[in-house]
Amino acid sequence: MPKGQRINFSSKLAVVAAAAGSAVGLGNIWRFPYELGQYGGAAFLIIYLVFVVLIGMPVMLSEFVIGRMGQSDAVGSFKKLAPKGKWWLIGVMGVLTSFLIMGFYAVVAGWTLEYIYQAVANQFVNKDTATLTQVFVDFCTDTWRPLIWLFVFMIISAIIIMLGVKDGIEKSTKFLMPLLFIIIVALGIRAVTLPGGVAGLKFLFQPDFSKITSGVILSAMGQAFFSLSLGMGCMITYGSYISKKNHLSHTVVEVSLMDTLIAVLAAVAIFPAVFSLGINPGYGPELVFITLPNVFAQMPGGYVWSILFFILLCVAALTSAISLMEVVVAYLVEEIKIKRLTATIWVTIIILFLGVLASLSFGVWKEVKIFNMGFFDLFDNVTSKVLMPIGGLMISVFTGWVLSRKQIRDEISTHGRFPTKYYNAYIFLVRYITPIGILFVILNQLGLGRWLGLS
Ligand code: PHE
Repeated sequence: MPKGQRINFSSKLAVVAAAAGSAVGLGNIWRFPYELGQYGGAAFLIIYLVFVVLIGMPVMLSEFVIGRMGQSDAVGSFKKLAPKGKWWLIGVMGVLTSFLIMGFYAVVAGWTLEYIYQAVANQFVNKDTATLTQVFVDFCTDTWRPLIWLFVFMIISAIIIMLGVKDGIEKSTKFLMPLLFIIIVALGIRAVTLPGGVAGLKFLFQPDFSKITSGVILSAMGQAFFSLSLGMGCMITYGSYISKKNHLSHTVVEVSLMDTLIAVLAAVAIFPAVFSLGINPGYGPELVFITLPNVFAQMPGGYVWSILFFILLCVAALTSAISLMEVVVAYLVEEIKIKRLTATIWVTIIILFLGVLASLSFGVWKEVKIFNMGFFDLFDNVTSKVLMPIGGLMISVFTGWVLSRKQIRDEISTHGRFPTKYYNAYIFLVRYITPIGILFVILNQLGLGRWLGLS
């Protein structure tokens, strides 16, 4: 491609589809419900929503602004906008974060492939909860089977990445996302009408604030970053592909709403079933995989629903994985000047290596701990609770304090073409609320709150 001429998403729908394709993924359907289950239900949900609005949305808009103004990858955009400073290090941190996320994300994506297989082979019928749980535990603690699926998933992702952003992502998300939505609603209806399912809705919507600790608050914030794909350059990279004709703040609102809706609906599909079946809501990463097969087993047409669901979950994981890999590949291609094909191959190999570490930490390497965590938990916690919030903090400081107000206003309004109704609120958030909020949550977790006598 000639210099200066970047591929753009073809239409407005394509932009939303690609960004939503990145945001909606395992984070919504796998991670959000189990975090919510571990951290006390409704109270977690409320805090999560507050973070989406006060921190997530302003950071997403900032990332789009940086990417579209810089017209480059996560590192190059900072270099272009602030040639003298060291702000590009935020992009470098993002590249590292992408690797670490993919290290555990690809493992779970591999699990979805196994579950497509099990659904097709009609493995969920006539099995009780204890058996279905055992099936999952046996699978994920096994050495080879999860590794094979991890490998398959990475090959598929690599092929799509090699084909380039536009072809790969746009098409898949546009019609698969609405389908995913329909299936989750159908699942939710079945789950709510299970005997005893109402207890799950209470858990989800009746807050018990006594369960809130500094750790819960940090987790909710981490989940907001993770679910909206923020703080590590992903939306900067995608922002650079957005055409100037796009109204950035509308895209932010649409993507955030869609992402949040799917997460909440996933929880509505899962918790009534969890309570009806007597599963422990705090089970952890296994929760979705042991709960939903039970629901399918008790659903009319469950066979077809289950196949469709796991296929769509896998596709949702795929569109997110592609966005994660694109951060690294775009960086290698544009900054280090490596060919796209070579970059993709190297990125895939490194992710496979990290993925093997994460996958084995459920089985044979269960005892291998770093900071008291296995590799899977380490990659997960370090990214969502440390690296992404710090990235988000720096990104908001950069847009709030380094870029000029005129630059931002011009970019958001495409030089006066769109109204900038929320401009002042956005600037206020990104200058004060977002950075101070993130800092406060992190310090609070480190014990500063206790030290100051606040909690
Ligand atoms: N947001 C994705 C999900 O919820 C995960 C992701 C994180 C993707 C960071 C890109 C960047 O599944």
